[in-house]
Amino acid sequence: MRNRFVIGNWKLNGGLAANAVLLDALKAKVLAAPGRYCGVCVPAPYLAQAQALLAGTSLGWGSQDVSRFETGAYTGDFSAGMVAEFGSKYAIVGHSERRSLFGDTDAVVAQKYDQVRKAGLTPVLCVGETLAEREAGETESVVGRQLKAVVDAHGVAVLSGAVLAYEPVWAIGTGKTATPEQAQQVHAYLRGLVAGWDQSVAKQLPIVYGGSVKKSNAAELFAMADIDGGLIGGASLVAEEFLAIWAAL
Ligand code: 13P
Repeated sequence: MRNRFVIGNWKLNGGLAANAVLLDALKAKVLAAPGRYCGVCVPAPYLAQAQALLAGTSLGWGSQDVSRFETGAYTGDFSAGMVAEFGSKYAIVGHSERRSLFGDTDAVVAQKYDQVRKAGLTPVLCVGETLAEREAGETESVVGRQLKAVVDAHGVAVLSGAVLAYEPVWAIGTGKTATPEQAQQVHAYLRGLVAGWDQSVAKQLPIVYGGSVKKSNAAELFAMADIDGGLIGGASLVAEEFLAIWAAL
């Protein structure tokens, strides 16, 4: 059995008061079980708050990015090691918003991935195609290239213990969800690709879907053979929605 995850990605949202209300509501209801994990990736300034409110609960927490460097003169960056100091479990790398808005290339994502692993965090590696790429029939080549960049740099073994997230760019924040079949097809492709490198890593690798997951569509997505949970944006900011998605896992 593969581990299953529902992870919230708050993006650039939150505030101390609102976070406390949301996290209190979540921690009252989330009861993680062996093999089923729930987490929130908060803006880095709120890691201390997440730690204070969530330590000892069933919810994990983490960041949405890390520096590709460990330490040094990199103004504005924060390292994976710093994220880990706050008791974090997760760090997202390669989110399409980092790739498209902040210039994270495949090579940069591979460096960040390595930093996350070395800090002892669980990497949540995002891959996904744009609408133009999908329409050009390039979905598999794009997600395959994004995943291969990490494996080429650091070896397939670094995927063990990680979470892979398929997030079609055209489905993020658009309300347009991939159909369960569309998502399953890409998840199966990704698992097959990993299996070509290492069968046992492929079998164990959780592949979660992200892109307009909500309580109304979570169950049908999570029912697919190769969909092992979700990475949730907008709906992770609303306790009732996020809890319903968790319940559908
Ligand atoms: P939405 O759920 O808001 O579409 O965002 C998905 C996402 O980008 C999660 O990382």
